[in-house]
Amino acid sequence: MKHIKIFDTTLRDGQQCPGAGMSYTKNIEYAQLASKINIDILEAGFPSASAEDYKIVNHIAKMYGQQIHSPKVAALSQLRADQVKQTIKALEPLIPSGRAILHLYLPVAPELMKASLGSYANDQTQILLDIANMIHMAVSAGLAVEFSPEAYSQMGENFDFTTEVISTAIAAGAATINCPDTIGRSCYLEGDDYFVNHMNEHAAIMKRRFPNKEITWSVHCHNDFGLALDNSMRAVFQGPATQVEGCFNGIGERAGNVALEQCIMYLKTFGEQHKSQAFTSQCRTQHIRQISDFVDAHMLPRQPHWPISGDNAAKHSSGGHTNAILKNAHVYQPFKPSDVGKQISFVFGPLSGSNHAQSIIQKHGYICDHNERQPIMQFIKDFHCNRRKGLTDEEFMQAYFAYRAPIRVS
Ligand code: KIV
Ligand code: ZN
Repeated sequence: MKHIKIFDTTLRDGQQCPGAGMSYTKNIEYAQLASKINIDILEAGFPSASAEDYKIVNHIAKMYGQQIHSPKVAALSQLRADQVKQTIKALEPLIPSGRAILHLYLPVAPELMKASLGSYANDQTQILLDIANMIHMAVSAGLAVEFSPEAYSQMGENFDFTTEVISTAIAAGAATINCPDTIGRSCYLEGDDYFVNHMNEHAAIMKRRFPNKEITWSVHCHNDFGLALDNSMRAVFQGPATQVEGCFNGIGERAGNVALEQCIMYLKTFGEQHKSQAFTSQCRTQHIRQISDFVDAHMLPRQPHWPISGDNAAKHSSGGHTNAILKNAHVYQPFKPSDVGKQISFVFGPLSGSNHAQSIIQKHGYICDHNERQPIMQFIKDFHCNRRKGLTDEEFMQAYFAYRAPIRVS
């Protein structure tokens, strides 16, 4: 079974999402949960962004440093010596245990390079020199290095330059190359541009250039066209990726990053049975609900129908579905809710059936004769005819008692 590493950037890329920022204490609480679910790497922040961000990363590095088993900690830095130094300092407490990662990035898409690097973008020789120098700085301080050619999926005519960027990073000591679909518009229909093909090409080139180096290929997809899960999983199943980066509940810039709970359950459901090569993550999936609820409460509200962890993901209402599930849960429930810390539940609504009505009545300790189910169900629907979004059990039973109430003949 091949182990796919989960790199959680909820605290870094997730907090780049407008409205999702959390207090200092909540960042630390999140890091405790991430350790509980057993993700491999937590990107704790961007230490050069502000003094507060520095302190958060440093606090998490200290906290994890006191644990025997904890995720590794990554922190983001631009290709600038002052930022790299600041990042190394923030991660210092984890260096002795070999769990500190500098995440260095530089754009490689032509337009983005011009827009964000200005005239520096034209000096490719200097860029390659700077990549080598900054990676050396981190490696000699005892950090591992992940390098991201930002907007990798949009590199276009810069394929050869990107090859040299990656090659320089590996030669200088980067152990992970992360390929981002930064603006979430990579689509397999775009033929040659499809970034998994490029990842395969680059992986093959680097294998030839560095036959004795063990490189981790990582994928980092944004979700602007709703393609982030598909692209991330293609990079694993059809590409070289053995690391997936994303955020819980899919939060992140614009339409967000790939949702980690979806990746983890995709790997568990489809990867573990994959015929030619089985894949899995080492996450404790039963804690998914807890971490997803935390993000919902403290970062950004989650849609009720959100896949895997949404409130409706294991909730059923319609008569046909409820009736079948009461006999065999698998028929309308595509994964075991207990695998993600949830339970199947039912909501009585206008489309519910008599079996469901009977089960609620019996659950509350009352007898419901088979022949009575239909008239009771009808009465309850009429009683609450304006409540088309569904009833709580209390509202249901209130109507049931009204049905049962003796009628006084005055
Ligand atoms: O989306 C992106 O390109 C990023 C990089 C900084 C890795 O978040
Ligand atoms: Zn990103």
